[in-house]
Amino acid sequence: MIGRLNHVAIAVPDLEAGITLYRDTLGAKVNAPQDEPDHGVTVVFIELPNTKIELLHPLGENSPIAAFLEKNPSGGIHHICYEVDDILAARDKLQAAGARVLGGGEPKIGAHGKPVLFLHPKDFTGTLIELEQV
Ligand code: CO
Repeated sequence: MIGRLNHVAIAVPDLEAGITLYRDTLGAKVNAPQDEPDHGVTVVFIELPNTKIELLHPLGENSPIAAFLEKNPSGGIHHICYEVDDILAARDKLQAAGARVLGGGEPKIGAHGKPVLFLHPKDFTGTLIELEQV
């Protein structure tokens, strides 16, 4: 059901430092920051030859990654994103298998303008999983 790894998301306490690290130290192609008010994050996409890295920084009062950064003050891997062809079919299949879909189970439009869903980390070996329909 799942396809390619679309991205690995890393929460960072200092966005500029994260950009500098990936652009200058690691020599990757780093895109301009994008504010995503619906998701409470500012996102920076880093393009690698075979996938992307997504730097996440809290935006606004109730950012879903604020608590994560409190627990992980130097940052850390926040989620991984797999591609699916049909997000509603994937959701229905996973829910039928007992997996919890976050946020009421309705897809939101993600940072790439495509529908996304998040799956409960306790149902997926301790990893927050994002599904993106491509
Ligand atoms: Co993501």
